[in-house]
Amino acid sequence: MDKSFNYLISPETIKLRGFSPKLKIAILASGEGSNFQELIDLSKSNKFDIDIRILITNKSDAGCISRAKKSNISYKIIKKSDNENNDCFEEEIINTIKNYDVELIVMAGWMKIMSSRFVNVFRSKIINIHPSLLPSFKGNNAIKEAIKHDSKITGCSVHFVEPEVDSGDLIMQAALPILDQDNLETISKKIHFLEHKILPLSISQAGFIVRNSFKGND
Ligand code: GAR
Repeated sequence: MDKSFNYLISPETIKLRGFSPKLKIAILASGEGSNFQELIDLSKSNKFDIDIRILITNKSDAGCISRAKKSNISYKIIKKSDNENNDCFEEEIINTIKNYDVELIVMAGWMKIMSSRFVNVFRSKIINIHPSLLPSFKGNNAIKEAIKHDSKITGCSVHFVEPEVDSGDLIMQAALPILDQDNLETISKKIHFLEHKILPLSISQAGFIVRNSFKGND
């Protein structure tokens, strides 16, 4: 992919914050896991002080699983269909996250809408990456929707998770033009490229907020 396309990232944070001890995070992912991989790589090369404690996925064939295996990261497959109902499914995820003692939960391609109960258990400690300039194009087909609506600019957003789908305080966004020659594949690639930049920076920012609010409550 030609990486020389025009884009804008806001806020213009260029540095990942240091965390000592490392920021303990859980990843929730349902798909390929390229964002997860970016975090693994940054962590392994000591460029980012994160400790990826656990990957939770709801798909037994998700690409993110082999990435966890390759890097010796604990993972758990928790499927809704293996549980009696949605409450049990979410309860298993909640218990798993609690067992792994994490500070921040990162939804990196998590394609399951979670209940307000789940969100409230970890209020202000869950962030999500979404492939649109929120609040435009919420939901699971954000890139397709942006193209269908003949958008001229699109992008990706990272936000704190609130009970309402794809809403909550924005942490960081990246924007790019949709050119005449673009299609679903080229836009998806460009958005992924930008996601790999803004997700680590957003984790850094959210981690800083989570750690400081904890100190404030001490
Ligand atoms: C990313 O583009 C992410 O924004 C999107 O899934 C993709 C996962 O890619 N998330 C959503 O659409 C959530 N509604 P990855 O598996 O390669 O990281």
